[in-house]
Amino acid sequence: MQTAVYPGSFDPCTNGHLDIIRRASKLFDKVVVAVLINEKKTPLFSLEERVEMLKTATKGFENVEICSFSGLLANFMKDNGYSVLIKGLRAVSDYEYEFQMALTNRNLFDDLETVFLPCSSEFMFLSSSIVKEVAKYNGKLEGLVPPELVGIIKRRFGY
Ligand code: PNS
Repeated sequence: MQTAVYPGSFDPCTNGHLDIIRRASKLFDKVVVAVLINEKKTPLFSLEERVEMLKTATKGFENVEICSFSGLLANFMKDNGYSVLIKGLRAVSDYEYEFQMALTNRNLFDDLETVFLPCSSEFMFLSSSIVKEVAKYNGKLEGLVPPELVGIIKRRFGY
């Protein structure tokens, strides 16, 4: 059984993330979405909220599981017996950083392979930061995030 891990901050989960999860779930037997517990950054949504939002958004996918990790991703992979990482690429500009991460991760854990999936063209512009910027000024979130998350995100900004 081949499992792939899709890591990220997911603060919050966007339709771009969901597109990658959906496509990865067709390529692999199981997809583990791993939410970063980042002690350095203060996310808008708590870890519990980010995990809950992902669970809601992926409830239709039978082979997708949500979990969290802290510290080095390579250690999380090794400790749990995972060796395939999924990363979504939006533009060529993402590639440089992601390539650096892929090489660093393999340097830390020999067996680790990173599989890059190009995002679907309609999500090229989309990121969690863009969603937060739009939400801050009460812009339209429909089409940017899964419909079940629109209300949760709006409420966080007081709308
Ligand atoms: O959604 P993001 O914030 O772009 O996801 C980035 C993430 C979580 C994949 C990356 O920051 C990460 O792997 N962090 C864990 C620490 C780590 O292993 N860094 C890479 C080697 S220095």
